Amino acid sequence: MTIETSPEPGLPDTAVTDAQPTETLIATGGEWWRSAVIYQIYPRSFADDDGDGIGDLVGITKRLDALAELGVDAIWLSPFMTSPQHDAGYDVADYCDVDPLFGTLADFDAMLEKAHALGIRLIVDLVPNHTSWDHAWFQEALAAPEGSPERDRYMFHDGKGPNGDEMPNNWESVFGGPMWERTTNPDGTPGQWYLHIFDKSQPDLNWENPWVREQFHGILRFWLDRGVDGFRVDVAHGLIKEAGLPDYTPPEDAGSMGGGAADALVGLEPGIDADADADPATPPYWAQDGVHEIYRGWHAVLEEYDGERVLCAEAWVEPLTKLARWVRPDEMQQAFNFTYLSAGWSAPELRSVIDGSIAAFATVGAPSTWVLSNHDVVRHASRLALTAENLQGAGIGPNSPGLPDTAVGLRRARAATAVMLALPGSAYIYQGEELGLPEDIYLPDEARQDPTWFRTNHEKYGRDGCRVPIPWEAGAPTYGFGPADGAASWLPQPADWDVYARSSQQGVAGSTLELYKLALRLRAAHALGTGTLEWLGGYGPEVVAFRNGDVTVIANTGSTPVELPVERSADDVLLATEPLTEAALPADTAVWLRS
Ligand code: GLC
Repeated sequence: MTIETSPEPGLPDTAVTDAQPTETLIATGGEWWRSAVIYQIYPRSFADDDGDGIGDLVGITKRLDALAELGVDAIWLSPFMTSPQHDAGYDVADYCDVDPLFGTLADFDAMLEKAHALGIRLIVDLVPNHTSWDHAWFQEALAAPEGSPERDRYMFHDGKGPNGDEMPNNWESVFGGPMWERTTNPDGTPGQWYLHIFDKSQPDLNWENPWVREQFHGILRFWLDRGVDGFRVDVAHGLIKEAGLPDYTPPEDAGSMGGGAADALVGLEPGIDADADADPATPPYWAQDGVHEIYRGWHAVLEEYDGERVLCAEAWVEPLTKLARWVRPDEMQQAFNFTYLSAGWSAPELRSVIDGSIAAFATVGAPSTWVLSNHDVVRHASRLALTAENLQGAGIGPNSPGLPDTAVGLRRARAATAVMLALPGSAYIYQGEELGLPEDIYLPDEARQDPTWFRTNHEKYGRDGCRVPIPWEAGAPTYGFGPADGAASWLPQPADWDVYARSSQQGVAGSTLELYKLALRLRAAHALGTGTLEWLGGYGPEVVAFRNGDVTVIANTGSTPVELPVERSADDVLLATEPLTEAALPADTAVWLRS
């Protein structure tokens, strides 16, 4: 296989400087988000400029050229707002400022300006379901009397039983343990309870309260005024709870992906199954009809601005036909397709979820999105080779059953990515997957920081293994994540990551980095993101085969080579995830052919 490395005309010029007017490279019109490739930056773990061991905004700005060269259209930035960091920034104490760990608002503006100059859009993470317990609103609520307007901004309730000692209901936190925490009154007596779907440091806001809604319109405008291109909306299915907060016990038979609320990271509904077409029972804290009105309001706020600003829902909702409600024309533009992410490395599953996705989103005129990895799940270079069930959100560690074979995982990940990037719609990639990074399974226990690890008494490893700072330079301290004289990275990096470092892969034929670059260049050149999928038969049950425009994609998910029954010359091979022999497509391999 030959890998092309020279840039093609029309790609962003990586030499463009900050001085370039912002508008020049950001195309207008065409609803960019329908086909965009969006790269998730997890700021703590991307690039550490100041050497404190935690990534920062200046670090991102300095590395943006690498993303332009990779060929992404946009960036989604996980939270960088002021936060005590009890859930890695998903516990926000000030929505309109940058946490000093990551820099300043001026650093943010400089980063955004450079991204735009490079032709890269930027969407930021917004966390509306809950604040940090350090947020001034929550502190005011704690200080205010029961029944006050300040308390009504959150979900405070009296306990049950004669002394109010029992929790208001039986809900279990996504991170483990109960969803309720009791407060203490100023005189030291036990007080009301407050609801937290996640950690106790993340109290849920009361979205029935118009004051809360108004505040968030202001927060949206704050970032839109600064020029962001949109928002990834955290827990976008959780804001409204069923009236009366009825008890809820998740089904016992949790299926392949979870064993109840405590097993269901970020609200994945129990029993989720890529092929499910039944509407699973809706827990009273997820996917309530009332959330949609909120997003219609946000849609209207975004419409006040020019330049196609977007909302993307993080909503773990099944089935896809239900998820499609989040992307009706007057709501959000995109929703993450976690049904796709949850599918195994199996051709029948993939065909079914791809068909189901395109059909479900088409009913509301929205594009499908595709995603294989993010900061909450086991990296797909490991996940696709697990040989035992892995509960969603549980993570993997040294004692997990069915640990993956690294080589098999990487091979499958490369093939799975080649399938994903050929699909019509918008694709999300997570920092480090372009390097083929696996999950870090052997993180020392004392280094783990995910609240899941603590709230389950170490029963679940949680998500730290996919959040380890990414390697830039082989042989350098922290692999170039931070400066040579900087602190150790906030999560330790494995000793054998030289091979994954960007510097080891740059310009190297067959490397995962060059595979991603080639796929993104071809995807743009052949307009695959705006194309149409047509299934091709005749390759056997273990094979995913389709045509998108003038590109034919064939992926072998089985364990034996498959004959390629097409007339082709070497020139017809646009991309192959492994070296090809004359006539066969090896196991765990995908190929793009000129149709
Ligand atoms: C989302 C985030 C996850 C976070 C949770 C609580 O699911 O992706 O990282 O822990 O929300 O905010």
